[in-house]
Amino acid sequence: HLNAVILAGGSGTRLWPLSTPSFPKQFLPLPSGHSMIQETLARVADLASPAQSWVVTGRSMADLVQEHLPSISATHILREPMGRNSAPAIAWAAATVARQDPDAIMAIFSADAVITEVDALHQTLKLGYQLAEQGKLVTIGINPTSPETGYGYIRYAQKISEGFGYQAYQVERFVEKPNLATAQSYLDDGHYVWNAGIFIWSVKTILAELNEHLPEMAHTLHQIVNSNDPNTLEALWPTLQSISIDYGILEKSHNLTVIPAHLGWNDVGNWEQYGALFPSDEQGIRAVGEHTGFGSQNVIIYNNTSRRVYTVGLEDVVVVEMEDMTVICHKTQVQRVKELSEHHHKQP
Ligand code: GDD
Ligand code: MG
Repeated sequence: HLNAVILAGGSGTRLWPLSTPSFPKQFLPLPSGHSMIQETLARVADLASPAQSWVVTGRSMADLVQEHLPSISATHILREPMGRNSAPAIAWAAATVARQDPDAIMAIFSADAVITEVDALHQTLKLGYQLAEQGKLVTIGINPTSPETGYGYIRYAQKISEGFGYQAYQVERFVEKPNLATAQSYLDDGHYVWNAGIFIWSVKTILAELNEHLPEMAHTLHQIVNSNDPNTLEALWPTLQSISIDYGILEKSHNLTVIPAHLGWNDVGNWEQYGALFPSDEQGIRAVGEHTGFGSQNVIIYNNTSRRVYTVGLEDVVVVEMEDMTVICHKTQVQRVKELSEHHHKQP
């Protein structure tokens, strides 16, 4: 059976001040009115029922997760005492699912990405499921459009399988977050895809890979899931190595397969990408909330207050209006919002 695992451990710095450490990206509303995490669960509902769905999140966000996802039982929300990155989060879910069903297949999703081609996602996951049953670690690949340095790059080799309208390839190499020159060389190479951060594998396979590549983590998680003492999690979780699944396992495994797919995937990494989800008027103004603008072009206005924002003659700018602060940023500088957020949280 397929179990769906949603990772919701985001820290919320790049879409600040709308997204904050206590209200990170995955809880932000989309134009549908639903939050990113709600849409993530809805997308997989045809493949995994709520009874086969899990969320791994920080303890401080667990109530918010439950509020957004009332169909998920409280026991399926795994609460981390603190973030230790995605490898422990995935390993904990795998070990937990394995105790109920040692033959389970699990699919991993980020709570904070947008996918518009839901049917394509379903078909790729069906093919991925078959390969997962054969003991493969299956990743989904996105056609790269720029030398983005924040993603994992996957070089694919020979085709090993096909079905449901998709092809699966042997992975020759997985490189997490290459530098700009390397990323550009991968684009020029033409045989690389971005790692979408969507995985499908059997709990048996991922736990075996964990044993091989992160043996201490495997041992600690075994102790955590097999303990009846609630203090074990508290005591052992902070001792886990903080490392992502990408660096910890995917870069090292020889067992990787990739299914390239067009999913309308967007990891909503900055204000430009978040703003682009909202409809634009003829001037290219995307406004959420009360706004009147004259002669502005290519502007994102996110007004989270009941006040009206007036603009005139703005170009290529993002304006975020909150009750207690305003952030105005040129579109070429949206990555630097993270710096503002860090600066703000350092203030006494
Ligand atoms: N529960 C939990 N706990 N989830 C976590 C934690 C944690 O400590 N740390 C990260 N996550 C979740 C995030 O919420 C997100 O859903 C997912 O794991 C990926 O983490 P990011 O921190 O967003 O990773 P990234 O963006 O740097 O890189 C990853 O995603 C890219 C695609 O968006 C990598 O997998 C890249 O290879 C990939 O291209
Ligand atoms: Mg990310």
